[in-house]
Amino acid sequence: MTDAELTARLDEVDLERLPAHVAIIMDGNGRWAAERGEPRRVGHAAGEAALFDTVEGALDLGLDHLTVWAFSTDNWKRPSEEVRWLMWFNRDLLLRRLDELDERRVRVRFVGRRTRPVPKRVLAEMDDAESRTAHHRRLTLQIAFNYGGRDELVDTARRLARDVEAGRLSPDGITERSLQARLYQPDAPEVELLIRTSGEQRLSNFLLWEAAYAELAFTPVLWPDFRRGHLFAAVRDFGRRERRFGAV
Ligand code: IPE
Ligand code: IPE
Ligand code: MG
Repeated sequence: MTDAELTARLDEVDLERLPAHVAIIMDGNGRWAAERGEPRRVGHAAGEAALFDTVEGALDLGLDHLTVWAFSTDNWKRPSEEVRWLMWFNRDLLLRRLDELDERRVRVRFVGRRTRPVPKRVLAEMDDAESRTAHHRRLTLQIAFNYGGRDELVDTARRLARDVEAGRLSPDGITERSLQARLYQPDAPEVELLIRTSGEQRLSNFLLWEAAYAELAFTPVLWPDFRRGHLFAAVRDFGRRERRFGAV
């Protein structure tokens, strides 16, 4: 497939059939760098342009919710030099680009474990970004950071258990609804479209609960090369799919 076939123009998208929530596994930074004989961090740095063009594309479309995966709970297994660089880079990116997101009326929030080993300074910037943009509703940009789907379900189970122990909830009161209410961002709509770049076709422990019925879109494009046209193509194709939810 040529790149032209993997992209679409805005006017090819049926804006009546937008997914309420798009999630993206931003993958392939390391391979992008390796293709150029560069260290992996060069690929991560190049991913910034992809992310901000994608956010512009989400604004062009009028999407409600976009979640992007920046760092997984499994990514701590990487060499400490890469992990340290990613912590610094993500904090720096937030500091440099928050004004722009704020001006565009983007609400920034995070999903993931807000605890060590994420450095305190990074956690503080995350809190600040959330409170500064909390009043915006044009687009909600959720950044999955130190995120793992099973970790989220474990954390949710702990919250349920505490509420049962405190007498606020009975065991039979544990339903999809009460579980949903204890996720990291309970009010986010279900993920309807999940995109993964770089040709990998797996979930890698992303949004296990939230994406239970998501349409999946896999593209061979490496994340640093991803642009809004690729998002438009995925959303256009989503509009053409038949979603059944177990019915006929
Ligand atoms: C995705 O790119 C970014 C993060 C996981 C932080 P990778 O770093 O996984 O790149 P590849 O998959 O090795 O090419
Ligand atoms: C998933 O990508 C995590 C992020 C994109 C942040 P990985 O590259 O870490 O996942 P695997 O190792 O290929 O499953
Ligand atoms: Mg990867």
